[in-house]
Amino acid sequence: MKLAVVGSTGEVGRMIIRILEEKSVRPEGVDFYASAKSAGSKLTFAGKEYEVKELTAGAMKRGYDYLLFSAGGAVSREFAPLAAEAGSVVIDNSSAFRMDEDIPLVVPEINGDLLKGYRKGIVANPNCSTIQMVLGLSKIHELFGIRSIVVSTYQSVSGAGRGGMDELEEQMRGSTEAKKFGKQIHLNVIPKIGTLLDNGFTDEEMKMVNETRKIFRDPDISVWPTTVRVPVLYSHSEAVFAETRKPFTLAGLADALRGSESVVYSEDLVTPQDGAGTDTVFVSRLRAFDDTRFLCWNVADNIRVGAATNAVRILLKHRELN
Ligand SMILES: NC(=O)c1ccc[n+]([C@@H]2O[C@H](COP(=O)([O-])OP(=O)(O)OC[C@H]3O[C@@H](n4cnc5c(N)ncnc54)[C@H](OP(=O)(O)O)[C@@H]3O)[C@@H](O)[C@H]2O)c1
Repeated sequence: MKLAVVGSTGEVGRMIIRILEEKSVRPEGVDFYASAKSAGSKLTFAGKEYEVKELTAGAMKRGYDYLLFSAGGAVSREFAPLAAEAGSVVIDNSSAFRMDEDIPLVVPEINGDLLKGYRKGIVANPNCSTIQMVLGLSKIHELFGIRSIVVSTYQSVSGAGRGGMDELEEQMRGSTEAKKFGKQIHLNVIPKIGTLLDNGFTDEEMKMVNETRKIFRDPDISVWPTTVRVPVLYSHSEAVFAETRKPFTLAGLADALRGSESVVYSEDLVTPQDGAGTDTVFVSRLRAFDDTRFLCWNVADNIRVGAATNAVRILLKHRELN
């Protein structure tokens, strides 16, 4: 297998490299790309040192089996189609292609079947907040049919990449400069992630609306998100309220969660610090007043579950099915 990571020096890219190591993926050939700024710097993979290369159009024609992209939407839009045309499977972490009808948007535990026979082209990795929410709700949706979801997110600063973490750390040391988040994030919460759209929602919120429908293959689910940035380094949390079409019991919901792949149902309190560094979605604080509506608290590491782990799981599932 020939493999490349694009955006290899970023938060997600570095984690992709670690997860490839952890899952014992050992390609015969591997290249690491970033912008001209990081070209020439060194990365270690499986005990060997590699020089980071500058991303070029020519490099995309080298015939990789898999390219894992995490360098932002503009880079994906320019370079991913070149690699796909050259016959590579591109697993893209940006939002560039997620809603394209012809491009599968995959959480392998839920709709990995879409990868069977998909030999050439781009596979989109969903938004981090969407991945952890749909993983926590998928089995419940299968059994009880989810009609609507109201969700408030508590998203860590690493969701905005290395720059987001630097900003919180600088403010913790006394800086008052607000660059990435518009307002000070240290000792604060900011109820707006992404760009405000004409309908009053942000683009981050609309990702949760549209991607959930696409992944669940159910255009009728209504999703009502509020996305909020919090001064946490790793792991997003979500307060989820869901309404089902069929009646449930709380024991039935707990059983569904216990039977969900990559999910742990906990009766203990689970905080972002507990989720950080794991490949698990933790669902806790499950409760209800009646038998068609419930609340829960969902925590997962946004860089792992919400990006790098899902991307590597797509790669492994694609290899298994083809
Ligand atoms: N952070 C998350 O929780 C998360 C979750 C899901 C998806 N994503 C998505 O993953 C992508 C990367 O996010 P991140 O958090 O890893 O950001 P990041 O820490 O800022 O890293 C960005 C990476 O992209 C590279 N890059 C930037 N411009 C480039 C160019 N013109 N050509 C080649 N490489 C370029 C950077 O290389 P240099 O070192 O050379 O600058 C770096 O390796 C984004 O699309 C983001 O939306 C992030």
